[in-house]
Amino acid sequence: MENVTTVAHPLVQHKLTLMRDKTTSTKGFRQLLREIATLLCYEVTRDLSLAPIQIETPLMPMQAQVLAGKKLVFAPILRAGMGLIEGMLDLVPSARIAHVGLYRDPDSLTAVEYYFKAPSDLSERLVIVVDPMLATGNTAVAAVERLKEHGASELRYVCLLATPVGLANLHSHHPEVRVWTAAIDEHLNDHGYILPGLGDAGDRLYGTR
Ligand code: URA
Repeated sequence: MENVTTVAHPLVQHKLTLMRDKTTSTKGFRQLLREIATLLCYEVTRDLSLAPIQIETPLMPMQAQVLAGKKLVFAPILRAGMGLIEGMLDLVPSARIAHVGLYRDPDSLTAVEYYFKAPSDLSERLVIVVDPMLATGNTAVAAVERLKEHGASELRYVCLLATPVGLANLHSHHPEVRVWTAAIDEHLNDHGYILPGLGDAGDRLYGTR
């Protein structure tokens, strides 16, 4: 699928299976999501540009590489997206956070915004939108739209599970946004849940329901 990277790393696949298992506890689910987030962050940042700087090791001067491109913003879609943030910040502790509060109307499955707060310099940053579940894609489309309205021009999307229909929806509205996911599940049920999926990510993360 165009612009989609499925992260096949064995650690990602193993942890995802544990997360899918309904007997995994809230504590376990939360910890696994954090760990997978770190691995997905490693993949989504794989092609960031580097530039040489001059430093001195304890033994001699050398030219070494540092990150050189745009600074990062992580944009979690509330609330389940927050479950990925700590794991990503473990790798990029200086990243800024844009909180995007959207929920899915249970009847229409459309995205309804209830909160938005982002750094003012989004146009100068690479914005990585994060949400565990890319189901219908409506929430993803709305989140990217809002971030673009606030100046974001370079965006990527990280999720745990995606569906072909959700990816197609996101791609049709925002074709330039590349997606990293741990897996693509084929189906959605009538309530917009991914099958086989892992259930409601927010409920499993926060022990609600
Ligand atoms: N959101 C979830 O939490 N789970 C799904 O399966 C789909 C959307």
